[in-house]
Amino acid sequence: MYLELDGQGPRYAQLIRALKAAILDGRYAAGARLPPSRTLARELDLSRNTVLAAYEQLQAEGFLLGRVGSGSFVANVGSRAPRRSGGGALVAPLSAFARRALANTDGRHLAAPAQRELRYNLQYGVPLTNPLLAGAWRREIARAAERAAPGYPDAQGLAALREQVCDYLGRRRGVPAAAADVLIVNGTQQAFSLAARVLLEAGDQVALEDPHYRGARQVFVARGAHVRGCRVDGEGLVPQALPAGARLAVVTPSHQFPTGALLPLARRVELLAWSAREHTWLIEDDYDGEFRYGGRPLAALKSLDRAGRVIYIGSFSKALFPALRLGYMVLPPALRDAFVAAKWLEDRGSNTLEQAALARFMTDGGFERHLRRAALALRARRAAMLDGLARHARGALEVVDSNAGMHLTAWLAHANHGQCEQLVAHARSKGLGLYTITPYCLRPPARPALVLGYAGLPPADIEAALRLLGRCLRETGLLQ
Ligand SMILES: Cc1ncc(COP(=O)(O)O)c(C=O)c1O
Repeated sequence: MYLELDGQGPRYAQLIRALKAAILDGRYAAGARLPPSRTLARELDLSRNTVLAAYEQLQAEGFLLGRVGSGSFVANVGSRAPRRSGGGALVAPLSAFARRALANTDGRHLAAPAQRELRYNLQYGVPLTNPLLAGAWRREIARAAERAAPGYPDAQGLAALREQVCDYLGRRRGVPAAAADVLIVNGTQQAFSLAARVLLEAGDQVALEDPHYRGARQVFVARGAHVRGCRVDGEGLVPQALPAGARLAVVTPSHQFPTGALLPLARRVELLAWSAREHTWLIEDDYDGEFRYGGRPLAALKSLDRAGRVIYIGSFSKALFPALRLGYMVLPPALRDAFVAAKWLEDRGSNTLEQAALARFMTDGGFERHLRRAALALRARRAAMLDGLARHARGALEVVDSNAGMHLTAWLAHANHGQCEQLVAHARSKGLGLYTITPYCLRPPARPALVLGYAGLPPADIEAALRLLGRCLRETGLLQ
């Protein structure tokens, strides 16, 4: 392998540049295996840790794929040189952003996964369906269609909706917000994307909890940021693991995603002190704060933010349904105008019809009624899952006790990552969709875990799914 380092800056950054150039120029083809870190370190006279750090970063950015126990492979990122497609037409060179977006190995943008043949799908993100909500929503949309102003909307969001969001946040999340500080966005995903445009230059560092929500990582990586993983333990983010020099950090203090931990007050205070000291913006992703099943609710981190460094994000994807694509940001005054300007450039504002329907749904009490019904249904599904895990998987899975949201994380007590993958494949062959924690991690965790979504199945199906899980655990030798 011939690689030339350019001698500029830290050695690991030189190695990242050299490897990226080789991949983008097509010198290392998709699927090619990179040399073991020890070998490359010897060849280039680098420390092994330098090579490991470079491989890890390239993996996070989607240039490399790691397979447990079998090394690092070049991902399919396209090449910088114009080339002929199968049909003979000239393919234009793509931007660095587009190449990184294409290198995203998640693949959800390409095709619906083959979930249809699954009898039971325990996938996180499958929503709760509620026929009563569908009826109420249809009426609100019809009404909004008759009354909503047909011109371009206010790019910041409909004033009536922003006011409702403030009222809701004050009552339910302890966040004091004025309508002037709220920006309505097309889901959390657009909030991340705007944050990347407004706050980051390529090469800036972004701190993420590890594990974390991959939707956030994918956006920041595609924008050319260097993502740094911060350790998470049973109480959530470990403040001592926060790096120096990050421009931005994304945190889930109310319900660590995906482990479920609730960040204690002392750690929240440390986190805020770190962000003020380091001049780092904090994005608080409060994605499922509306569903709690007991335990003491803690107000959002934003409620403690005296320095004006917390950007709060909420979404209607969990509270209502993800197809709605509506969410909101509460912005520190120093950032408000820049975010609204970016939103205006991006799409001229979110869909008026749906904003108007939602504002009215919130004003007339339909939203709160829906939340109460949804919380009851989710509580029953969560109980069925905890009960089923205790009955059918005790001894094989250690469930993290998490009192909120729509999923649970369960660590495999006596299995390695390979055995966990075997379990997932075996379960799939029996019609059961299981999903590991690995795609949410920058570094593979010491032990494998499953992220178990329960919103999409009624309690009886959850019981049947977990009975099947118990059978799969026994058939793969993970349960006696
Ligand atoms: C951690 C986390 N943040 C945010 C979201 C919501 O994203 P969006 O509003 O883009 O649907 C989800 C949804 O699955 C999530 O798991």
